[in-house]
Amino acid sequence: MSARIVDGEEGVSESVEVLRGGGVVGLPSETVYGLAADCFNPIAIARIFEAKNRPLTDPLIVHLPEVMWLDRVVRLESQDQRIMVEKLAHAFWPGPLTLLLPKHPDLPDLVTSGSDWVAVRVTSHPLFQQVLYHLNAPLAAPSANRFGKISPTTAQHVQFELGHKIELILDGGPCVHGMESTILSLQEGRIQILRPGPITEDLLNEIGHVLPTVRNVNTPGSLPGHYAPKKELHILNMDIKSFAPTRSSGLIAFTAPDLETLALFDVVEVLSPSGDLKEAAANFYGALRNLDSSKVDILYALPIPEEGIGVAIMDRLRRSSYGSRIKMDIPSSGEASDL
Ligand code: TXA
Ligand code: MG
Repeated sequence: MSARIVDGEEGVSESVEVLRGGGVVGLPSETVYGLAADCFNPIAIARIFEAKNRPLTDPLIVHLPEVMWLDRVVRLESQDQRIMVEKLAHAFWPGPLTLLLPKHPDLPDLVTSGSDWVAVRVTSHPLFQQVLYHLNAPLAAPSANRFGKISPTTAQHVQFELGHKIELILDGGPCVHGMESTILSLQEGRIQILRPGPITEDLLNEIGHVLPTVRNVNTPGSLPGHYAPKKELHILNMDIKSFAPTRSSGLIAFTAPDLETLALFDVVEVLSPSGDLKEAAANFYGALRNLDSSKVDILYALPIPEEGIGVAIMDRLRRSSYGSRIKMDIPSSGEASDL
């Protein structure tokens, strides 16, 4: 089986038909492509886990087309909680923000892996919204990659990742943000960032008190090894002038490196020639994918400035390179708290 890539209005109708029949469909979102299924159909949900080869212990994000649908999947417990959700929704929905909220009892436990909390967001992608409206059911959707691999930001990436496992992919063009949503929990009116993303700490500070980020293995998206290329990948924290690759090498750089640095590598992916972190985020997974399928033996990345969405890019870069670090027994230069 090879998935068909469809688009436009007809593509939306075909997607709805497959979803109505309990199938799964690759859908475009403003962050990354998702693998969607009707969140109230446990058999359809099971198909997501099967297609991605994802452990049942790793819960799924539920997607809505508008905030009015929220009460279909969550049951807010207090007026304070409702006020905080309304503030965040007003500022950032529809958009790349996911909230961890008390789950509605009717939502199948499979979606939340047995937790009483559900991760939920309102997507801004017009095609995803249309599918939701036509289906008239919220959709659970993790990123449409094989578990632990690089996230997809185009329909072709989804085809490469899961084309042999699913029948349909709706093409909505390249993802605008290119980085998964920011995930938050609310702690007595304060905001805890569980996964950094396009809604940055600075933006959240304008809404409420943001707690210092704690990173441990129990928070969402926090598996240390994730978003991994097939090839070894290392972050070059050293002075590049003293670096001499011994094998054919690829480099990911934020902006264009100087000529001396360029000469050290066989292939170089520049994330944003103009030094725009948002552009760099949008290009990150595609660049990693290009290098991974190129002829080079080993991949390197120069650190990205950790400000704004650069925090999320570095978070993904560290996780992408985790397996290589472990294999080589390389210490993580002050990044241990990320793991
Ligand atoms: O931008 C995004 O968030 C994309 C698009 C498709 O919406 N989705 C996405 O899903 O990144 P996924 O499954 O690749 O990452 C969601 C993360 C996972 O690490 C999962 O463990 C965590 O969120 N998560 C989901 N539901 C949760 C819950 N109920 N409690 C704790 N963590 C949860
Ligand atoms: Mg993912």
